[in-house]
Amino acid sequence: MYIQRAESALDRFLPPAHEEPVRLHEAMRYACLNGGKRIRAMLTYAAGTALGGDLSDLDIPASAVEMIHAYSLIHDDLPAMDDDELRRGRPTCHIAYGEATAILAGDALQTRAFEILADADSPVSDECRSRMVAVLAQAVGSTGMVGGQVLDMAGEKRSLGLEDLRKIHDSKTGALIAAAVVMGGLGSRHADPSILAAYEQFGREIGTAFQIVDDVLDETGDTETLGKPTGSDRQAGKSTYPAAIGLEKSRHSIREHYRMALKILESVPGDARLLRDIAHLVVDRSF
Ligand code: IPE
Ligand code: IPE
Ligand code: MG
Ligand code: MG
Ligand code: MG
Repeated sequence: MYIQRAESALDRFLPPAHEEPVRLHEAMRYACLNGGKRIRAMLTYAAGTALGGDLSDLDIPASAVEMIHAYSLIHDDLPAMDDDELRRGRPTCHIAYGEATAILAGDALQTRAFEILADADSPVSDECRSRMVAVLAQAVGSTGMVGGQVLDMAGEKRSLGLEDLRKIHDSKTGALIAAAVVMGGLGSRHADPSILAAYEQFGREIGTAFQIVDDVLDETGDTETLGKPTGSDRQAGKSTYPAAIGLEKSRHSIREHYRMALKILESVPGDARLLRDIAHLVVDRSF
C-alpha cells in the first residue's frame, strides 16, 4: 500500500550515512530502513487520505512516527530490557553496533522525529505542526509509551490481572499507534475535534489488539516469518495476554478490540476503507 512511500520518505528524512558521525548515522539507518511492516506509517497515510488529505503532507508525520517506533525497538531489545538479538531478520542494533552506539542511535532517532515535525519548511501550517509535536510527545512520554515500557518491565515474573495488562498494552503500544492515526487526521487539514477523538479511540483499540497479536505470535509464530525470536516472552517471564488468560481468550480479546475499532470508525466521515483494511491486517497477521 503505502510501504514504498514510507521507505523513501524515511530515506529522505534520515541523516545521510556518509555524514559525520558516520557510525551513528549508519546505526540510525540500519534500525529504520529495510524492514518493518510500516503499520504506523500506513495508518498515518490512510487516516489522512480518508479525509481528503494530500500524501505529500503526510510524509513527515508518517516518517516521524516510524522513527520513534524504530528508536523504541532499539531500546526495547537492549540487554537491560528484553535482551533480544534478532530484529527484522537481522542482528539487533546493539549486536550490530554495540550498546553505546545503539542507545545513542535511539536517542538521535527520537530527536530527529521531532526535528522534522517542527521544521518550518514542512508543508503544513504552524498550528498543525505544533499540534503534531504535542500529540506525539504526549503519546510516547512518561504517561504513554515509555510509561508502558516501565510497567512492562515491572510486570516481569509477576502475574498481572487483565486490567493491569490492558493498561500496559494500551500505553506501550496503543498510544503511539493512536498518535499515528491522529497525526494523519491533523495532516489532512480537514479533521474536526470529534474526528480526531474518534481516530484516537480507533487507534487505541487496534493498538491494543496489535500488541495482543504480538503476544500470541511470540507463542505460536516462527522466528523466520517474524524476524525476531519466539518464546522470548515466556523465557523472560513477561506478563502477556496468553500467559494471563491463555491463547483462546487472547484471540477472543483481539476480536473484541477489532470489533470496537470498526464500530468507532462508523462515526467518521470520509472513505475509511483503507483504515478498515489495515485494522484487518493487524488482527489477521502471521508476521
Ligand atoms: C513491534 O512492532 C513492537 C510492538 C509494539 C509489538 P512491529 O511488529 O510493528 O514491528 P515492525 O516495525 O514491523 O518491525
Ligand atoms: C514492545 O513490545 C513495545 C515497544 C517497543 C514500545 P515487545 O517487547 O513485545 O515488542 P517485541 O516483541 O520485542 O517486538
Ligand atoms: Mg518489550
Ligand atoms: Mg521486546
Ligand atoms: Mg513482543
